[in-house]
Amino acid sequence: MSLKVTNLHAENYKRLVAVDISPTGNVVTIAGRNAQGKTSVLDALWAALAGGEASRATQQPIREGQDTAVVRLDLGEIIVTRRWTKDDAGTLTVESADGARFSSPQKLLDEMLGRRAFDPLAFVRQSPKDQVATLVSTVELPFDPEELERRRKAVYDQRTEVGRDVAKLEAQLASYPDHDPSLPDEEESAGVLLAEADAARAQNASIDQAIAEANRQAHTVEWAEEALREAQKALDTAREQYADAQKALLAMPERVDVSGFAERLDGLEARNRRIRAQRERNAVAAQLANAKEKRAQHTLMLTSIENTKADALAAVEFPVSGLSFDESGVTLKGIPLSQASAAEQLRVSVALAMAANPRLRVLRIMEGSLLDSESMQIIADLAAENDYQVWVEVVDESGKVGVVIEDGQVAR
Ligand SMILES: Nc1ncnc2c1ncn2[C@@H]1O[C@H](COP(=O)(O)OP(=O)(O)O)[C@@H](O)[C@H]1O
Ligand SMILES: [Mg+2]
Repeated sequence: MSLKVTNLHAENYKRLVAVDISPTGNVVTIAGRNAQGKTSVLDALWAALAGGEASRATQQPIREGQDTAVVRLDLGEIIVTRRWTKDDAGTLTVESADGARFSSPQKLLDEMLGRRAFDPLAFVRQSPKDQVATLVSTVELPFDPEELERRRKAVYDQRTEVGRDVAKLEAQLASYPDHDPSLPDEEESAGVLLAEADAARAQNASIDQAIAEANRQAHTVEWAEEALREAQKALDTAREQYADAQKALLAMPERVDVSGFAERLDGLEARNRRIRAQRERNAVAAQLANAKEKRAQHTLMLTSIENTKADALAAVEFPVSGLSFDESGVTLKGIPLSQASAAEQLRVSVALAMAANPRLRVLRIMEGSLLDSESMQIIADLAAENDYQVWVEVVDESGKVGVVIEDGQVAR
């Protein structure tokens, strides 16, 4: 069932002497000069419905000099009566149209009142954080926004830390000379080089020996030729030996140039320093690549969290299209609500108030005098479109607007 006020009757509530209002239409304008009882009318309406919360806000509900106050609301299907006598918090009865009383009246009203008794203008003045809380209380979210924000923040902080490693390693890498592809990975050993030089020298020495041997045999040939006639046989032998010696010489490897070894030995330490530096450099380059990859992973995780949130938000049905929220507050079409036009903010607030009170279709606006005619029209249109009854208090001295309250009574 959806309920509206068909009649409000109040006696001795705050500034009121006695009023009896049977509103027609979707906007109920409570008008009049200052201090005549307009706010008292709207408070009476809310005090009758809200009980504890409303009665704590009003310390002296009974008009000065009187003993009892009463507010009676006819909501069509039910009638709500709250009566205050001196020093009590008010007694409530709720009965059906045919006079049957309900046994837990406040519980019944609390269920009807929805999540909060809502003044749309009060929403516009809330802090961005409170606005988000109000918005979230009107919809079912498939995630906990605070938990999601905590996770986003944690990953963001980790990524910042890894990013610092990247910067540090990049600076460290820059302090090394550039990579030289001609350098081997391992340092060279003086021992190996010396052994190589020894072997070369030994090889050369045996070549020298072979040369000497060849020369000796050549002399022998010369000598033998002189004694050819006498020693033809010896000559043949010597020739054979000479041929052998020449063969042996031919089989020898090429001579090695040993002049460079001393120089290489001299340059060895400097070269090894470069090799060492290059190895360190390669290690740093590997660390840098690792850190960059980690940073990319964190960026992916952030994107994934943001996507999770965006997907979830896309699936949520907010009472106004384009309405959402982020870390900083409620947004309309992606722009902070505080930067939307006054008319847009008002539309959002009224729609939220309506969404929060789906059964008791009654809203109140305490400071209607702050609204311009365009805003007033917006509220009237929304009330008509959605079948709500909006009670608005306006200061007016003409006596020609709405229900005029004069000295605690409806002016005749
Ligand atoms: N319990 C009370 N008894 C008598 N007067 C009261 C009581 N509560 C408030 N008032 C008086 O009512 C006036 C404000 O009433 P209110 O309904 O706020 O007027 P309006 O909204 O028309 O300006 C003030 O003058 C205040 O002193
Ligand atoms: Mg007032």
